[in-house]
Amino acid sequence: MEFIKLGSTNEKISKLGIGTWKLGSDKNSTIKIIKETLNTGINLVDTAQMYQNEEIVGEAIQDEDVFLATKVSPHNFHERDILRSCSESLHKLRIKTIDLYQLHWPNPSVKISETMRAMEKLVDEGKVRYIGVSNFSLSELEEAINSMKKYEIVSNQIEYSVLTRDIGDSLSEFCRKNKITLIAYSPLGSGKLFDEKYKEMFVLLKDIGNKYDKTPTQVALNWLLQKENLCAIPKFSSREHLLENLGSFNWKLKPNDIKKIDDFGQLKKPLSSMLNPVTKRMAPLWSNIMTRKEKKRINNNSEEKKEND
Ligand SMILES: NC(=O)c1ccc[n+]([C@@H]2O[C@H](COP(=O)([O-])OP(=O)(O)OC[C@H]3O[C@@H](n4cnc5c(N)ncnc54)[C@H](OP(=O)(O)O)[C@@H]3O)[C@@H](O)[C@H]2O)c1
Repeated sequence: MEFIKLGSTNEKISKLGIGTWKLGSDKNSTIKIIKETLNTGINLVDTAQMYQNEEIVGEAIQDEDVFLATKVSPHNFHERDILRSCSESLHKLRIKTIDLYQLHWPNPSVKISETMRAMEKLVDEGKVRYIGVSNFSLSELEEAINSMKKYEIVSNQIEYSVLTRDIGDSLSEFCRKNKITLIAYSPLGSGKLFDEKYKEMFVLLKDIGNKYDKTPTQVALNWLLQKENLCAIPKFSSREHLLENLGSFNWKLKPNDIKKIDDFGQLKKPLSSMLNPVTKRMAPLWSNIMTRKEKKRINNNSEEKKEND
C-alpha cells in the first residue's frame, strides 16, 4: 500500500481508503468488508454523521489500526451543535478521538468563524486530531483558513474522477502550495463509470487497460492516484472489488495514455456545482428545517430516557 502525508502533518494515510456512504444496510457484510480492507494495509475509513452508519463503522474499527474520518452535517455548524454532534459521533464510533473531522458541505447561513472556533475547541479538548473540509471552493477554503486561530485545515474532500475532473486549477494549486490534501470522493463516478452513457470513456479505459493487463476500474483509479497531494476513497462492498481496486497500485500509466484520458475532458458535472448554488440560496431555510428536526429528535430521545429511568 502507498501512503501520503496528511496535509502538513506527519500522519500517514493510505492513498486508497474506503468510503462508506450507502454501506451499513447489512451490518455483518459492512463490518466484514471494512475489516478485510484494513487487513490489506489500507488505514483510511471515511464516514459521516449524514450516512447514519457510524455505529456499524465503529464496531468494524474496534481494535484496528485505522485513520478514521467523519463529517459533521452543515445544519449543525453552530458552535453548540458541532460540539454535540462530535460527542454523538464519538459515542457511536466508540472512540475517544476522531482522527479527521470534516465540515461536510459549506453552510453560508452560519458564520464560518463560529464554526471554525468550535472545530478548534474540539482539537483543544482532544476530541478531534485534525480538521478538514469537504466540497469547499477556493474562496470558501480561504475564508475558513483565515478564521482559524491555532490549527490548520489539513484536507478538502472533493468529487474527483475520470468523469468529474474539473476541480479548478486554482483550487488544486492552492491546496498543493498550502499542504492541504485532496481526498477524492466518488472516484468511480458513484458507479456511473459503468453506465451506458459514459461508454466511450469506458471503452478507452478498457483499451488502455488491455496494454497493461489491467481492468477499466484499475486504469481509472491509477489515473487519479498518480496525482500528487491526493488520496481516493472509493466505496466497495465486496472482496472482489476491494482486490480489483488494490490492483490500481504498483504500476504506472504512461504519459501518452494519461493524455488520452485527459483529452476526453469533463463528462459529468460535480454534485457540488448543482447543490452549492441551491444550498447557498436555501441555506437559512434548510438549516432551520434540519435544526428543528434535530431538536425534535433530541427531545424525543430525552423523553424516552426519562420514561426508561
Ligand atoms: N463529501 C461528500 O460530499 C461525499 C459525497 C459522495 C461520496 N463521498 C464519499 O466518497 C465515497 C465514494 O463515493 P461514492 O460512493 O459516491 O462512489 P464511488 O466510489 O465512485 O463508486 C461506488 C460504486 O462503484 C462500485 N465499485 C467499487 N469498486 C468497483 C470495482 N472494482 N468494479 C466495479 N464496481 C466497483 C461500487 O459497487 P459495490 O458497492 O457493489 O462494490 C459502487 O456501486 C463515499 O462512500 C463517501 O465516503 C463523499
